[in-house]
Amino acid sequence: MSRECMESVRNFKVDRGSVALWWLGQMGYLIKTPAGTLFSVDAYLTNSCKKVGDSIGLNLDRRVPIFIEPEELEVNHFLCTHSHGDHADPETIARLRPSAVETFVGPGLACETFDQCGVEKSKVQQVYPGGKTQFSDVTLHGTFALPTDDGELTHMGYVLAIENGPRVYISGDTDYHELLAHVRRLEPDMMITCMNSGFNNMSHWEAAELAGLIKPKVAIPCHYDMFPDNAADPQLFRAALRFKAPDVRFEQLDYVKPFVFKS
Ligand SMILES: [Fe+2]
Repeated sequence: MSRECMESVRNFKVDRGSVALWWLGQMGYLIKTPAGTLFSVDAYLTNSCKKVGDSIGLNLDRRVPIFIEPEELEVNHFLCTHSHGDHADPETIARLRPSAVETFVGPGLACETFDQCGVEKSKVQQVYPGGKTQFSDVTLHGTFALPTDDGELTHMGYVLAIENGPRVYISGDTDYHELLAHVRRLEPDMMITCMNSGFNNMSHWEAAELAGLIKPKVAIPCHYDMFPDNAADPQLFRAALRFKAPDVRFEQLDYVKPFVFKS
């Protein structure tokens, strides 16, 4: 299953002017471009948060299957939005085949995690909100995210701007702040957003408010499904969009089923 899943992503052809996404649960996505460039974002491919949850009295036992084992993952660029275990998972990173990833990309503390997991320094690229980096046919913009607690202060989001194609915004874990609306200037077509409220992430209402300011064509909820103690109903986000961003289309993705968007 795991190998077949990775294989089908690798063999998938993305048409010019399009982007393809596969959801892996929580904030984990594979994103593929027409040139065949493959990114992972916040790939959480183990159950390592369970132990952490058990130690602090939280149920963080994953309830989404692992669709791709870390040893099977093969991407050009491995992106993380911050260093929390469900985003830059040390066990996932340590189990990746060294040759399977060209570049590990993230803000400061995520880069420390890459380093602690034995990733070669030459493969790590630190990025920051407001900056941009070119990866093949994609300009990767770093976006602002407001940390959800004082234990991790280097949160960020990304806009992947595909050459002559769509632009995908992924929020990262973030509390609501009006500065998030700066993403409007990057004109994303799609907005993938947290909306779970839990642990100080944006609520469904705040995420819808932000969608109204950023004005993407499509809004996709995530980060509501993985843990019993951090779950939320994505339909609340759909309903809130009707009030706060009525022109934005709600899309709830199925796991590991290609979602293709054409600009
Ligand atoms: Fe998270």
